[in-house]
Amino acid sequence: MKKKVAVLISGRGSNMQALVEAAAKPDYPAEVCAVISNKADAKGLVFAAAKKIPTHVLDHKTFESRDAFDTALHDLIKKTGAEFVCLAGFMRLLTPGFTRKWEGKMINIHPSLLPLFKGAHAQRDAIEAGAKESGCTVHFVVAEMDSGPIIAQAKVPVLPGDTEETLSARILKEEHTLYPAALAKLARGEVRM
Ligand code: GAR
Repeated sequence: MKKKVAVLISGRGSNMQALVEAAAKPDYPAEVCAVISNKADAKGLVFAAAKKIPTHVLDHKTFESRDAFDTALHDLIKKTGAEFVCLAGFMRLLTPGFTRKWEGKMINIHPSLLPLFKGAHAQRDAIEAGAKESGCTVHFVVAEMDSGPIIAQAKVPVLPGDTEETLSARILKEEHTLYPAALAKLARGEVRM
């Protein structure tokens, strides 16, 4: 039986799309049972809906606190039947109470070789630091941002003349392979926090 996974997005959703496409293969150990966005206009919602995946919008602006949002988010994920959660460009900090509930069951992809370049501008920061290589990381989510145990990484070179856009594109291509591979390991029980 495939493990049910909820994918959380805030925007384009290309990593979510890569997960959905991988999960469509019969021998893949997980299926995407829901796509949840904190933004109603997230482009990824269109793709998910077209694939007949249940989509949900939980607008953080309609909640009075982070705790209230995270409680509603937890309840919603539970209702979808998901056993695992993938953050895929979900640009919200999560409260420790929430991350504790999903410890070992929630993973994230980040566009740098963690622990280097945490935060929302990882590719730009890598270029500005003069890094010769960068890449992407899939890791377990813990309370501290971009800090949980690492499951998998892929490297790319930073080339002379790279801009934030060119480096982001090179990394993103790797993300689309790395994330499905890491989720498969988790769903098969091959990695544990
Ligand atoms: C991806 O590059 C992902 O690694 C990054 O946002 C992008 C989302 O793209 N995530 C972070 O920076 C998290 N700190 P997508 O919506 O097309 O998957």
